[in-house]
Amino acid sequence: MIAGIDIGSTTTKAVLRDNNEIVSMIRTKALDPITSATGILGKMLFEGNIPLSRIERISITGAGSSKIDGDIFNIPTIKVDEITAIGKGGMYLSGVDDIIITNIGTGTAIIEANRNNITHIGGTGIGGGTILGLSKRMLGTADIENIVTMARGGNLHVVDLLVGDIVDSGISFLNKDSTASNFGKMLDTAGQEDIAMAIINLVYQVIGVMSVFAVKSRNKNVISFTGNGSTNEIGKKILIAIATMYEMEFNFPENPEYATALGAALI
Ligand SMILES: Nc1ncnc2c1ncn2[C@@H]1O[C@H](COP(=O)(O)OP(=O)(O)OP(=O)(O)O)[C@@H](O)[C@H]1O
Ligand SMILES: [Mg+2]
Repeated sequence: MIAGIDIGSTTTKAVLRDNNEIVSMIRTKALDPITSATGILGKMLFEGNIPLSRIERISITGAGSSKIDGDIFNIPTIKVDEITAIGKGGMYLSGVDDIIITNIGTGTAIIEANRNNITHIGGTGIGGGTILGLSKRMLGTADIENIVTMARGGNLHVVDLLVGDIVDSGISFLNKDSTASNFGKMLDTAGQEDIAMAIINLVYQVIGVMSVFAVKSRNKNVISFTGNGSTNEIGKKILIAIATMYEMEFNFPENPEYATALGAALI
């Protein structure tokens, strides 16, 4: 069996592969890299009642993997480049082998992947971490569940400047409800719920538009989203609105938070 461990900036994910079958996928909070890697491996083996001797290789990836040198528990341990892991995992999860993948983690990376090549196109520091950081200061909570619950009752029109606020008709392909400026209106009457919605909207609009530009620059029209940030239901709706606006296809595979760990286990 091969264990793939993704020690991300915020969470650690692990998958276990037995030949062509994925037998386990689990995640935990990220602690220090060694505790994260050994802890998640131990949990996965314990819960699956699998002896350590069955593990032939461990593939580690993610930001924290740079802090781990040598073998874990005397099992051959290799480091897998995170971009390669996202590319491989994204192709596996989406079932498409010529694709653009946007991985929404603490930050966001955009990757082009096919069977011969995996390239890091670029990315943005806007990601899940941005939602938590801005919410901590502006809403007094950095709990993603609380933030999402608050956002459900929010009204963007009191925080964002919309195209309809500045012109009578649309502009180019933008209609009156399109965003002219995120946080560009910010009425004094805006409440916590409205701000929560506006923070999420800002993050996913930026990621969505960057993904569209990446895809256009590579003459493709399908993007798959991976990473924990891609599981956000409000975020998905915002991304789909961007896809519709730019006439693109956005794809949301299952188990997206495991893409990087899966990619490592597949190498
Ligand atoms: N439902 C959710 N909606 C939005 N964001 C979420 C959700 N669940 C988790 N997140 C965010 O996802 C981020 C973690 O995602 P992920 O585990 O993919 O990142 P990571 O691998 O730790 O980070 P990176 O890949 O950037 O190093 C956190 O910032 C968290 O706030
Ligand atoms: Mg990650």
